[in-house]
Formats: sequence, C-alpha cells, structure tokens
Amino acid sequence: MQTDHQIQRELEALLEFHLEVGIDSFLGDAPIDWVARSVELASAQRQAHAARTQPQSRPSAGGPAAGAQRPGASAAVPASPGLHSPSAAALGSPPQGEAVAAQQGKPANSTPGLPTAQTVQMARDMAASARNLDELRGRLVEFNGCSLSLTAKNLVFCDGNPEAKVMLVGDAPGREEDQQGKPFVGRSGQLLDQMLRAIGLDRSSAYIGNVVPWRPPGDRTPTQQETELCKPFVVRQIELAAPEVLVLLGAASAKTLMGATDGIRKLRGNWMTYPVAGRDIACIATYDPAYLLKSPIEKRFAWKDFMAIRHRLSHSPE
Ligand code: URA
Repeated sequence: MQTDHQIQRELEALLEFHLEVGIDSFLGDAPIDWVARSVELASAQRQAHAARTQPQSRPSAGGPAAGAQRPGASAAVPASPGLHSPSAAALGSPPQGEAVAAQQGKPANSTPGLPTAQTVQMARDMAASARNLDELRGRLVEFNGCSLSLTAKNLVFCDGNPEAKVMLVGDAPGREEDQQGKPFVGRSGQLLDQMLRAIGLDRSSAYIGNVVPWRPPGDRTPTQQETELCKPFVVRQIELAAPEVLVLLGAASAKTLMGATDGIRKLRGNWMTYPVAGRDIACIATYDPAYLLKSPIEKRFAWKDFMAIRHRLSHSPE
C-alpha cells in the first residue's frame, strides 16, 4: 500500500516527465483532436474568405503597395528571382495546378499532411492585404489555417527595431518565447544577444522574426505543412521591414525562404540575394542559436558568419 507521500512523489515525477518531453500546458480534461479542429476552423475561415472575395478578382502576390514601413519598400514580390534567389514556390506561390483549383474553389491538394491550395491561398491573400507590420500581426491573429496557433499560448511575431538594417529570421519559437510572445528570449536568445553584441548590434539595431510564429508542441521541428502555411506571412514581414541584410537562422528558415534543399551545414556562410520590392537584399544563412547550444563546436562557424555580416553592414549605405 502506497503512502500519500509516495503517491505525491510519483505524481511529481510524472509532471516532471511531461515537462521534459514538452507537455507543459494544461488544455482540458478530454483529449482534443487538434488536426480535425484546425481543418474545421480553416474550412470555416475559407468559406468566410471566399464570401468576402468572390465578386472581386484575386489580389496579386504582393498585394497593395501602400503603407510599407520603410521608404522605398513597395509591396510587389518580384516575379522572376535570379540564380541565387528564392524560387516562386519559396515566396509562397502555390504550384500551377493548385492555383487553378484554388481559383475554382476546389481543394486540389488532398495529400494528407499537406496544406490545401485554398488554405495557402488564403494565407497569401491575408498576408498581402497587410499594409504595415501592425496589420500583418493582426492578420496572423485572425489566421486559423495553421493548427500550431491552437496549441501555442502566444503569437511570437517579432522583437527589435523594424527600421533596422538587419533582419534575423529564426525557425520557430520555443517554450520561453511562447510564454513571453517574443522571439529569442530564452537561453538561445541570450546567445543571440551575445552574437549580436560581438558585431556591435543589439535589439535596437536589429529586427527579429520567425518563419513559424507559433511554438510547435514539444519544440519539435516545424513540419513542411506548417512552414508552407506560415511562409506568406514571413515573406510579407520581410517585404514590409525591407532590411539591407537578411540573416536566416537555422535550417527551416533557410529552406523555407531560399527554397533550398541542402542542409544548413552546406547553406551557411554563403551570400545569396533575396529579392524584395524590386531590389536584392543580401542574405546569409547561419546556425540557429538554439542548435549552437546543443552543438557548441559549430559556434566557430557561426562566429565567421557573424563577422561576414559585420563586414557587409559596414559597407552598406547609411
Ligand atoms: N529559435 C528560433 O528559431 N526562434 C526563436 O524564437 C527561438 C529559438
């Protein structure tokens, strides 16, 4: 027969185990099928969206140009990216067949685990309709197409200065970021702050976002479905912030935004261009500070990349 004290110890151990594996928020007594729930919500939102947009023609990929936050930044996404530029798919365009089906109001993509073309199109329309970063944050709050928004505590949209010359885009927020609603505030945030300080920057001279703005449960890597659904929003965020230099922190960020298939080891450290509003932004990928905490040996490469960023910034116009 167990004593009350033993039962209490067992319950505490169970709670600690749950916390360890990432189950850190109490949601309810009965299990909830979040996938089914998000499908229902996305379908209701698509219907409302279709009802709102039916009589009009669909907006272009870039959306309205008014209200961009930096002078010179317009809303149009360039149509033909260059050799080292993100492909159209990387910028959130659905594949041709899907786009046609989306126009016809049919779910073209019925592959389980991949977003329907309609939901991607809805994300693109919502992102394109945001005329400034505040509106974009509002659109993300309204967007129900990604099930991560149902399990996360907070939207993790941005931190830092949107007028800064440099913008850093991480993969997805972790537990601390979710609690505070800000990117890179946990241990990885402290490391990022150190790396920024090393090149003479801080959060008043850098703007920070994430490809996926909601925490994946248990801090797992975001799925391709999740990154595809969130991509139009982060693309618009970059477009509206219009930095001089874009730093992609981690594999999901580099793969999603550059349309790359190589791993981060191969991608990091090479300057590429990212076309935004008629101009090419200098873009470099490096390791996510969260990864560097687990593999400190790679810090020397991240250090090299940050030196390259400092050099590039020191040569960019005031
Ligand atoms: N890693 C990320 O990519 N984003 C965060 O916000 C924190 C850690």
